[in-house]
Amino acid sequence: INKDMEEIDQNTTENGHRSHDEMVSLNDSTGENELEIPAMLERDNEKGIVYTVRAQKGKTEIFDGTETKTYGYNGAFLGPVLRLEKGDMVKIRTINELEENTTFHWHGLEVSADADGGPHNTLKPGEEKVIEFKVAQEASTLWFHPHPEGITAEQVYNGLAGLIYIEDDNSKNLGLPNDYGKNDIPLIFQDRNFDDKKQLNYNAAMNDDGTIGDTLLINGTLNPKLTVNKEKVRLRLLNGSNARNYTFKLNTGDSFVQISTDGGFLNEPVTLKEITLTPSERAEIVVDFSQLNTANDLALINEDESILLPFEVSDQSGEINKIPGEMNNFSITEEEKDLPVTKKVELFGMKDQVTINGKKFDPERIDFTQQQGVTEVWEIYNKPDMMGGMIHPFHIHGTQFKILSRDGEEPPENERGWKDSISIQPGERVKIAIQFKHKGVYMFHCHILEHEDNGMMGQLKVE
Ligand code: C2O
Ligand code: CU
Repeated sequence: INKDMEEIDQNTTENGHRSHDEMVSLNDSTGENELEIPAMLERDNEKGIVYTVRAQKGKTEIFDGTETKTYGYNGAFLGPVLRLEKGDMVKIRTINELEENTTFHWHGLEVSADADGGPHNTLKPGEEKVIEFKVAQEASTLWFHPHPEGITAEQVYNGLAGLIYIEDDNSKNLGLPNDYGKNDIPLIFQDRNFDDKKQLNYNAAMNDDGTIGDTLLINGTLNPKLTVNKEKVRLRLLNGSNARNYTFKLNTGDSFVQISTDGGFLNEPVTLKEITLTPSERAEIVVDFSQLNTANDLALINEDESILLPFEVSDQSGEINKIPGEMNNFSITEEEKDLPVTKKVELFGMKDQVTINGKKFDPERIDFTQQQGVTEVWEIYNKPDMMGGMIHPFHIHGTQFKILSRDGEEPPENERGWKDSISIQPGERVKIAIQFKHKGVYMFHCHILEHEDNGMMGQLKVE
């Protein structure tokens, strides 16, 4: 018993929540490398095909003078940014150039199940598929990654992930920083472990609840720094890690504003000193470098003060961008608030003993059905275990939803916007209002990718 208690002590934080993050802390970024900015994917000339996306193998010089074997989209490591506009008719030719099955999942995109790239849309090595859809949702920062059954985590770990930007009239007219790579910066945060040959060794990196690495890569850059002008800079944050949570803050204690959630702009900017993102969550924040005291070193840091991204602020002042007070018209109607709960989801477990409503994923089983175009209220409960339990980031495919309440309380201001992934604390009950525009079978799951691979996933059929 004593031994068990000791173990509990080690793995449990003060509030009783197990936090695997604390077992492996991240090394500080030394800031010796300028942050890599992913290319914007060029549209094809080929008639009718807007983009081609290939999943491929490659080698990347993450460490000077050494090649690391990696996966990437249209390149050796990670992927380019796919830029879409609301209203676009899009055709994407997806090609699997790997030696294993994969899928192309567009996380947060409202598309038919056939185009969604879930585990039923598997492409064998050498196979290709053209998907088609209309972009019918508002401006937001989404992402894409593979989703083959049972091997998602390792493929993402090896480098398959990219961003999707959706723009619309609103996003183009708000006057927000939008000079890509200058004052509009994508930031994909991923923690990795490298073996002594500087290779990504997925199995060696496994911890009980997923891969938690000691080495941070941002956009694939080791020890990154970001050079900015003295101006407002928009940072599009994606927690692209398999299992690690981040709490982002400035080392000076200064505040910043959050302007968007997973699926669109907040109605008004929300001033914050820190923001936590669990795996797959996004937030756009704006840091005003013209107002910060740059006499000292500036950096984006994590909860435990480890340095994630040092900033170098040039003497040049950039464009003066104002952040508008009003950015969107997101709302939750009285009707939605009054709807009864019609679906209950219970998240439970840790390690490989993870379940949803007591079950593990079965590709043949439909767990729920919902009518196309009808709003329902789901209640998601994270059931604690003897040791307290752990945060599970819960994601639903094919749509964006609204958070109605967390434990009966209104969600915090910076969650009053479209979401497709939501962090749920042990013991917490969250209500969401959700509607699907398209038909077919969609996944819902924990976005700790090792939990997903271990079966913490269910299926919904939209009819
Ligand atoms: Cu980002 Cu089902 O995934
Ligand atoms: Cu989980």
